[in-house]
Amino acid sequence: MTALTLSTAAAAGLRADVVVVGVAKGDKGPVVAPGAEAVDQAFDAKLGSVLETLGASGGDGEVTKLPSPAGVKAPVVLAVGLGALPEKDETFATDTLRRAAGVAARALNGTKKAAFALPVEDAEDVAAIAEGAALGAYAFVAYKENGKDAKAKKDAKGPLAEAVILGGKPRDKEYKAAIERATALAEEMNRARDLINTPPNDLDPEAFAAVAQAAAKEHGIKVQVLDEKALAKGGFGGILGVGVGSDAPPRLVKLTYTSSKAKKSLAFVGKGITYDSGGISLKPAGHNETMKCDMAGAAAVFAAVVTAARLGLEVNVTGWLALAENMPSGSATRPGDVLRMYSGKTVEVLNTDAEGRLVLADALAKASEDKPDAIVDVATLTGAMMLALGSRTFGIMANDDAFRTSVHEIAEEVGEPAWPMPLPEHLKKGMDSPTADIANMGERMGGGLVAGLFLQEFVGEGIAWAHLDIAGPAFNDGGPFGYTPKGGTGTAVRTLVRLAERTAAGDLG
Ligand code: BES
Ligand code: MN
Ligand code: ZN
Repeated sequence: MTALTLSTAAAAGLRADVVVVGVAKGDKGPVVAPGAEAVDQAFDAKLGSVLETLGASGGDGEVTKLPSPAGVKAPVVLAVGLGALPEKDETFATDTLRRAAGVAARALNGTKKAAFALPVEDAEDVAAIAEGAALGAYAFVAYKENGKDAKAKKDAKGPLAEAVILGGKPRDKEYKAAIERATALAEEMNRARDLINTPPNDLDPEAFAAVAQAAAKEHGIKVQVLDEKALAKGGFGGILGVGVGSDAPPRLVKLTYTSSKAKKSLAFVGKGITYDSGGISLKPAGHNETMKCDMAGAAAVFAAVVTAARLGLEVNVTGWLALAENMPSGSATRPGDVLRMYSGKTVEVLNTDAEGRLVLADALAKASEDKPDAIVDVATLTGAMMLALGSRTFGIMANDDAFRTSVHEIAEEVGEPAWPMPLPEHLKKGMDSPTADIANMGERMGGGLVAGLFLQEFVGEGIAWAHLDIAGPAFNDGGPFGYTPKGGTGTAVRTLVRLAERTAAGDLG
């Protein structure tokens, strides 16, 4: 990953291949943002009008590269748009900086060293720029052989090697911590993206569990993997019922990070369907090509637990990865089958494509046994949530209004678009089954909420619980934007990590 460093050097004087400056959209054309004064001076204070002549406006996502004048050590200046100028007495929003750094880093593939001379007010801004640069520089090239040999792959433009963030105070503890946090967070988020992007023939439940085991070992996290035999012995009918049609058997992974100073405990539960074909209720063509992304919830949970461990957060965090492949076969669960879940409840499977709630139900029931202070599950659960909120916003449901509000505030704060959704009681009736305790499907309308209500049935009494339906933002089918690449995005990782930090600090109930 892009190495992140801090420097006090002046923007014009630092030896780098490129210097990144910010430019905002002013009333009378582009305005050079604070942090780039020295670079502007080298342009005789005309950088704004030079950019305007080149067609730039300072708009969000805009990138302009120009050769440096004498007096700027880096041979190239990259001006990145910051959007509207902030109101008087206000500063650029942290996510504006994160996105701008991401846009710039994305335009710097193949570059060795770039200096980021963006407007910095505090350590939080430095963290945002560092995060944005490392996340924007991400590229998934593991399978790009170009039909030739390993050399062609090596020649493929690698991501930006080093991002030097200017304007901070490298010896200041707060700034150093900001860079360390950004490095750990972006590395784990990028690893989550790699897992999501890895084709399902190379990432089945067993392979995912092996990756989790190796990382846990590296970071002092306790790990326990239940294989299909242990799952059968334990009565995990939901996870087994989803995985039974596949030649690649399911797994339940428990990651346990503990801090000797912890006063609170959190459990994160991730949906880890390494491929969702729909099962016997097979998805039609057009709906299955990107279903390798159906383990994005488990990838986010995995990344969050490892990040918590790397940062030594003073809170206990348990991660549950409910891993299975949903395939049709002679041994697959049929619509009409009844599963006996880990909790003891029976579920009539009316649609084998509503598999996420089945694996999550078992993991939620199991996680509840430890009586954590709160449980958050993360899942690419329903197409309905995508219809409701679009492709960039995840839905938050909860059994506790205050907890849902906290999770929403945290998501907004870290730059992850999210929105609260209700769990209307009356929708439960639709899941009545003539045969079993509950069916895995209900009314079509409000399908995302129906799924949430199903999950709620498996959460232990008295435990605060939130459900993040990330079906929209987990996988970017469109072009890259900001610090978000095509493919796996790593959404929800930052919300989970900040929730753990907040809980450690005692800011939450
Ligand atoms: N993994 C899908 C949901 C999904 C859809 C995620 C599109 C990302 C993009 C989930 O397992 C599913 O198939 N849900 C069904 C539920 C229905 C059968 C009740 C859906 O949303 O159609
Ligand atoms: Mn499905
Ligand atoms: Zn699914």
